[in-house]
Amino acid sequence: MLKDKSLIAPSDLTLDEIEELLVLAERIIQNPARYASVCRGKILASLFYEPSTRTKFSFDAAMLRLGGSTLGFSDPSTSSAAKGETIADSARTVGQYSDLIVVRHPKEGTAKLMSRYAGCPVVNAGDGGHHHPTQTLTDLLTIRHYKGGFEGLTVGVCGDLKFGRTIHSLTTCLARYSNVRFLFISPEELSMPAFVKEELDANSVSYEETTSLESCIGRLDVLYMSRVQRERFISEEEYLRLKDYFILTQEKLNQAKADTIVMHPLPRINEIATEIDGDPRAVYFDQVKFGMYVRMALIMKLLGMPEPQN
Ligand code: NCD
Repeated sequence: MLKDKSLIAPSDLTLDEIEELLVLAERIIQNPARYASVCRGKILASLFYEPSTRTKFSFDAAMLRLGGSTLGFSDPSTSSAAKGETIADSARTVGQYSDLIVVRHPKEGTAKLMSRYAGCPVVNAGDGGHHHPTQTLTDLLTIRHYKGGFEGLTVGVCGDLKFGRTIHSLTTCLARYSNVRFLFISPEELSMPAFVKEELDANSVSYEETTSLESCIGRLDVLYMSRVQRERFISEEEYLRLKDYFILTQEKLNQAKADTIVMHPLPRINEIATEIDGDPRAVYFDQVKFGMYVRMALIMKLLGMPEPQN
């Protein structure tokens, strides 16, 4: 079903396809050795025109753990982009060498553009402030693992809702499950953009907006924290004014329910005090691990690799 498709936004996947990916990821977690050579002979190219630690390594590790190989760059100054090559030509070229392309770019729409020219599946690993679908798969696997599913959850998303692409992808995707309620917690200047709210309104999804984390933390099943996206600000002064608007401390977390989970796509700057890292509700480092497994599942499906026989 997913074979040869590109993944640009979570809406490219049906809920059934998402479920299939999450189920496969859980199967891989149970027995990773079984999948250690399903992608032997396949090549994944990762083109990172913007900094990344987790996402690039996560894709590379996922492909290597499936027995495949990787190539790519994490610094565009070492690629032909520095010579002025167009995205379309880069896609055509890299598509000749690889079976799957993963791309991160500061400009919205780049992954989609690449997918038209590459001749192989393209996965969006973040395009500007727009979407980041594989972080969403990571987040969904994490939530499903701890909460058993998505229906009826009250989800607080906190921080930079304006520029946070992981938030745009997660919110619009979770809104497709029944009875999910959202609390959008941000300074007014960084509130959820219209393109997300319009999608929620069109589907009669319930959400509230607030500037106070303390006022709603006790109601949440999931608290999704995020950093203020410095690189997308026009004014450094404005960034400095807003960067420490929310800091989740143990004192604030004490107001949350005993089974609330605290998530973060990482990197964290100041928005979660390290004192809560040992709290059982803090699951952001497990999230990293889930990310690699769900990317293994995605790579297998996009390349149409069958379940191993052993
Ligand atoms: C996120 C991103 O790149 O959007 N990081 C990630 O992929 N884990 C979040 C961020 O950079 O704040």
